[in-house]
This record gives sequence, structure tokens and C-alpha cells, in this order.
Amino acid sequence: MPTLFDPLTLGAIALPNRILMAPLTRGRATREGVPTAIMGEYYAQRAAAGLIISEATGISREGLGWPFAPGLWNEAQVEGWKPVVAAVHEAGGRIVAQLWHVGRLVHPSVSGLQPVSASATTGPARAHTYDGKQPHVEARAVGADDIARILEDYARAARYAIAAGFDGVQLHGANGYLIDQFLRDGTNLRDDDYGGPIANRLRFMREAVAAVIAEVGAARTAIRLSPNGDVQGCHDSDGHALFTAAAAELQKLGVPWIELREPGPQSSFRATEEAPVSPAMRSVYSGRIVLNSDYDAASGAARLAEGVADAISFGRPFLANPDLVERIRLGAEYNAPDIPTLYSQGSKGYTDYPTLLEAV
Ligand SMILES: Cc1cc2nc3c(=O)[nH]c(=O)nc-3n(C[C@H](O)[C@H](O)[C@H](O)COP(=O)(O)O)c2cc1C
Repeated sequence: MPTLFDPLTLGAIALPNRILMAPLTRGRATREGVPTAIMGEYYAQRAAAGLIISEATGISREGLGWPFAPGLWNEAQVEGWKPVVAAVHEAGGRIVAQLWHVGRLVHPSVSGLQPVSASATTGPARAHTYDGKQPHVEARAVGADDIARILEDYARAARYAIAAGFDGVQLHGANGYLIDQFLRDGTNLRDDDYGGPIANRLRFMREAVAAVIAEVGAARTAIRLSPNGDVQGCHDSDGHALFTAAAAELQKLGVPWIELREPGPQSSFRATEEAPVSPAMRSVYSGRIVLNSDYDAASGAARLAEGVADAISFGRPFLANPDLVERIRLGAEYNAPDIPTLYSQGSKGYTDYPTLLEAV
């Protein structure tokens, strides 16, 4: 039976353990989406993770919907990422870039553009902007030209990620962002080849993954999905069938690993009563499955022993515990995340969480 401390291969990436750092938006880049030196310090502190999945990183100005989040659409951003990635490698770690297009979940004051989506719909609640939270505006339904351009944006961002030194990329297909907006029938109201039956709604995901694979190879490509439950106004009438079909599609594409955010009814991050789809996905997908949400050492180890998960990704525990791997090894307590500094700028609540050694 595998344990969290057994090595694992995810495509081209060899991991010393199965404790992954989940993607965490932290808002420490510049307003132009250029990574800053402090980000290198933060990620290097967490280099003992089997693999770090970077914070969501915009593939284009249009697709970046969060103040001070980083991008990967121009040379300055590539240059900004280089020392961050190098710091992780120098500390003995591995890191992939999470490629993000938020679709309808961006305010025009952040992107300078009307948001786009599968269909003309409006995100729920309010968008994060440089002037606090503001109501979402209606998205424009993308046309064929837009889709071709966005696929090129994915490909370029993947190429830039490798140029910056990343070990691979993960498409962000979860949490109600653009790929999810195409997948689910609550937000995809199209009647062309990209809408309607599941086979059509999978098309955009398939083309985005294929565009990335063509650029960097399948061995360095992965995707994150959130199969169970509504998220950010994105819902589906039959998530079980949809995401099982998505897993079969990823199998065909040769994607070596997928990460699934699968909360339960008691989750402290987007709880849902909908059952996990991962067992059904496992039955049609032979690659590695990384499970996420609300895990600790014991529950993570149990999922590995059950055979559904090959590895576990930890979000908030890694955020507040740079030495999480060591804490899991020792069965030590975790620091709690400081909520007010989750997305604030600067080092407070970012690079100053104590390790076990510093706490004694
Ligand atoms: C501050 C914060 C930022 C997050 N940013 C991202 C992100 O950039 N991309 C993503 O896919 N999920 C993001 N998530 C979701 C986490 O990756 C993870 O799914 C969630 O925290 C549940 O896992 P946990 O219980 O291990 O924290 C974020 C969560 C938090 C708390």
C-alpha cells in the first residue's frame, strides 16, 4: 500500500513524496502580472513538497481576473518567473505552472476588457478588483475567432512556462473558470459544436489540452477539475456523467495526471452534498489521480490506501506551514492560516509562518 512518503512519477516529473502543494492565489505579483522576488522566497520555503502547483497564472490579460495575480503572456512575466522557479529548484523542489483563464469571472476594471465565456452569462456575487469587490458584468459569448485566439494563448503560456524553467503546466479546469464554464450546462448554453451534448461541451477542454500538449508534450501537461458540486455559479445537471466523460477524454489525450478538488458536505472550502466522481473517473482513467480538499495526514493516507488517489494536494495547510511535509512525518500540529493576509501584498502572512524549528 503506498504511503504519502513513497515516491511517484507524474509524467516527466519524479516526485520524492506524494504530498503536493495545491494551487493558491496569493496576490504578490505586480499590477502588470510580473512575479516578485518575495514569491521565490515563499515557494522555496515549501520546496519539500513532492510537487508545487503554482498559484493560478493568467494566460492573457483577458483571462487574468485577480488583483496582483501573476501572468505568463509576455517576456517580462517570463523573466519575473525565472528566479522564482530557480529558487524552488535550488531548494531541491519541483514546480508546475497553473494556467488560468477566468472567463466571465473578471471585472473590466482589472482586465480592461468585457469578460468572455461560453455564453452570455454573468458571474455570481462580486468580482475582486483593485477597488474592492464589484458586481460582475455580463460576459460576451466567444466566437470561433476568440476560441482560436484563446487556444493560442494557452499554447503560448505553456511555452513560456517551460522557458521560465517550470517542470510542467496544469490547466486550471476547475472552480467555475473558463474551461469549467464550457464544460457545464448551467453556463454553456451554446447550440454549436461547443455546446449541447456532453461530447460537445468537452470540446473546448480537449482543444485547450491538445494545444498545450502540442507545445510542451503530454508528459509535462496536467489539468485540475472540480467535478462535484456547484462552484462560483457554475453547475451541471449531471456532473457524474460529465466528469466521467471528461476523464475518458483525458485518457485518450494521454494526460499523465489529473488533480481533483472534491469537497464533502462538511468541507470548509465550498462544501457540497454531491458525491465524489473520482471513483467513476478512476474506472476510465489510468493516469495518476491527485485528490484535494480538507485533507490532513490521516485522511490523506487513507485515500492512498483505498487506491482512488495516487497523491494528495494540500492547500491551506501548506499556506500556513512551509514545513508541512516534516509536520506530517512527525504528526505535529499545523499553524492556522491568517485570513486577512491571504491576498494582501507583502511578507506578513506570506513568508513569515514559523517552521517547527523556529517555533521551539
Ligand atoms: C487563499 C486561497 C487561494 C486559492 N487559489 C487557488 C488557485 O489559484 N487555483 C486553484 O485551482 N485553487 C485555488 N484555491 C483552492 C485550493 O487549491 C484548494 O482547492 C482549497 O484550499 C481546498 O483544499 P485545502 O482544504 O487543502 O485547503 C485557493 C484556496 C485558497 C484558500
